[in-house]
Amino acid sequence: FLHKLVLGIETSCDDTAAAVVDETGNVLGEAIHSQTEVHLKTGGIIPPVAQQLHRENIQRIVQEALSVSKVSPSELSAIATTIKPGLALSLGVGLSFSLQLVDKFKKPFIPIHHMEAHALTIRLTNKVEFPFLVLLISGGHCLLALVRGVSDFLLLGKSLDIAPGDMLDKVARRLSLIKHPECSTMSGGKAIEHLAKQGNKLHFDFKPPMQRAKNCDFSFTGLQHIIDKTVMQKEKEEGIEKGQILSSAADIAAAVQHTTACHIAKRTHRAILFCKQKALLSQSNAVLVVSGGVASNLYIRKALEIVANATQCTLLCPPPKLCTDNGIMIAWNGIERLRAGLGILYDTEGIRYEPK
Ligand code: KG4
Ligand code: ZN
Repeated sequence: FLHKLVLGIETSCDDTAAAVVDETGNVLGEAIHSQTEVHLKTGGIIPPVAQQLHRENIQRIVQEALSVSKVSPSELSAIATTIKPGLALSLGVGLSFSLQLVDKFKKPFIPIHHMEAHALTIRLTNKVEFPFLVLLISGGHCLLALVRGVSDFLLLGKSLDIAPGDMLDKVARRLSLIKHPECSTMSGGKAIEHLAKQGNKLHFDFKPPMQRAKNCDFSFTGLQHIIDKTVMQKEKEEGIEKGQILSSAADIAAAVQHTTACHIAKRTHRAILFCKQKALLSQSNAVLVVSGGVASNLYIRKALEIVANATQCTLLCPPPKLCTDNGIMIAWNGIERLRAGLGILYDTEGIRYEPK
């Protein structure tokens, strides 16, 4: 075959996803099944439930991606699958399904690091050369890294506790936004963004965390606890029960979104200055890539644009569909690894790949 063709499979969290991508970045087929609705009802992901849903859907999703692409498994150059990080039970479903395909069709297997895939996604949609800076902010991820090559990352900062999306989800739950007529079907972060537009951020003053920390790490639990306390106080003041919606909910949403944006922007600013000072990034045309579910927040994105402009960086975000978990980024990472001559840990002639 002239072109490399990779099937990518992703099951690290709550999306069952698959895609077939070719060497030039054409997406030939893709399919995704999201479990969000189920997990929203239980107020968070219950790993055995996620595992069961992956089991129920993986066959159909992979089949769909393949049949849309009109590529038969025998034509594939390799099968790439997320092996870490993520929920062990969820990862296991994708991995064992993939290894069955690998055995059946005698294909090389490319184990994929989920964060590497998120970081490289921008190279599928834009002409971005190494090195570039990447900020990953979602429900499960929070990191800042310098991407120096396909598998060459310098971790500059990470959350010391939870990810920003997780915090926003918890705040949204505490504010009972699921009962709000306008937000009931939205993720926590999206509900906060929606409600924030109707609120006044100046009515609450939540201090950004880690203002004195001389590094690029993040922290979100402190903010979450302050908001918990504030909500409790307000419930008393307004004389309402836990579980009802506060009249000040929109103001709280606006303030938490603002503080989150400030914190993320400040840590990113530090990372850019550090990289430029150490000549790890170009002075005049560095690229800052922002991805993950929280990157779809326009208020947070605006804050990052200001940072990028002030530091002569170009801010790039993958399209929303590629910012969240998907099979395309896994397949693309497989292509990147093939092109770089990296990372086939298992082929049918060799040793069986054992995940750690
Ligand atoms: O990337 P993603 O789909 O899944 C992972 O967490 O890996 O991100 C989902 C997270 C959730 O926490 C959700 O609340 C948050 O991204 N999110 C947002 C917005 N849309 C989704 N956070 C802030 N503003 C948004 N518009
Ligand atoms: Zn992810």
